[in-house]
Amino acid sequence: MAVLRFPGESRTIESEIEITTALAALGIDYERWSLDRVGPDASADAVLAAYAAEIDAMKQRGGYVTADVIDVNPQTPGLEAMLARFDKEHTHSEDEVRFIVAGRGVFFLNMSGRVASVEVGPGDMLRVPRGTTHWFTLCEDRRIRAIRWFQDTSGWTPQYTESGLDAGYQPLCFGPTYPGMRAAHGFRL
Ligand SMILES: [Fe+2]
Repeated sequence: MAVLRFPGESRTIESEIEITTALAALGIDYERWSLDRVGPDASADAVLAAYAAEIDAMKQRGGYVTADVIDVNPQTPGLEAMLARFDKEHTHSEDEVRFIVAGRGVFFLNMSGRVASVEVGPGDMLRVPRGTTHWFTLCEDRRIRAIRWFQDTSGWTPQYTESGLDAGYQPLCFGPTYPGMRAAHGFRL
């Protein structure tokens, strides 16, 4: 389940319908998809096969031609260099579409100066339209597994804004808050 925050307004949204509505107002698609198709150790091919219907529907919806599974963990070679490519504010000339199978990360979206952060986790589908100014970080455990869709893989090269805005936001993850957990956390953004 995702957590949507507007750090500048000290506002946190954790209900699915409110997150969907708030992101839709910003032009961002958010959906919850079932996670019961494959086990945590399934191969990339098994994940693609299990979600074939959703993958094809998304291709139709956005004109995407390919999909793959990205699997990142602390043992991934060149992990820090890879993350450094995406944790600076940038845009792409094609949509960034992700369905999170495992792990957690945070998309920061700069919507005309109003920054929203979307912490995504297993079962979350997020579609960020081309041209949206954003950056992405992994959570502390440096782990994410996601289905990605592409119109043209060359279009996914980051175009950096060099705004420096990303440096002003802490890439912290707190996970969704469940009843009784808020006090135990002791801290909230
Ligand atoms: Fe990006």
